Amino acid sequence: MLKDSQKVFLTGFMGVGKSTIARHLAKILKCPRLDLDARIEKQHGQPVSELILGLGVDRYRDVESDALALLLDEPTPAIVALGGGAFTIERNRKMIKEKGHTSVWLESTFEHCWMNIQRSKKVRPLAKDRETTRQLFDERMASYCLAEWHFLIKPEYSSYDIAKQISEEVFCLE
Ligand code: S3P
Repeated sequence: MLKDSQKVFLTGFMGVGKSTIARHLAKILKCPRLDLDARIEKQHGQPVSELILGLGVDRYRDVESDALALLLDEPTPAIVALGGGAFTIERNRKMIKEKGHTSVWLESTFEHCWMNIQRSKKVRPLAKDRETTRQLFDERMASYCLAEWHFLIKPEYSSYDIAKQISEEVFCLE
């Protein structure tokens, strides 16, 4: 279904469910699933949270862009879950677009994301408290909406429902 080295990048705020939806979508489309954060952790031998705290956000974004560039050079198709900040960086959006890959924004309410952030074991240094996280959520909308596709996640939808919807609308799969 995915041609040659075509990649589908899932973006959206922390806690929206990018990784889980990527897993379902990869199964439906029968292709590999990749996770940019996991790649970075493997390359650097450190959790993303520690890299952010050690390097600072700006230098971390360079590390993230380098990892994205490497991943984009791979000649295999894949569904890729991005970290929530990756698509807010212009050079990352440019690399994805110029190489003809697909980007999908998964949108949900702040409340839904915040609930998942709090429930999750993943350490997220950029989601320290509700107020600053809410601000980040609002700021990022302008970047996320530059993705090629947009899916709104309603509370009654499961991650599988969303993946199925993406497969039907983006890949015309029934
Ligand atoms: C970040 C999101 C995280 C991770 C890092 C920074 C962000 O990934 O990349 O903590 O800036 O939104 P998730 O979106 O998977 O939580």
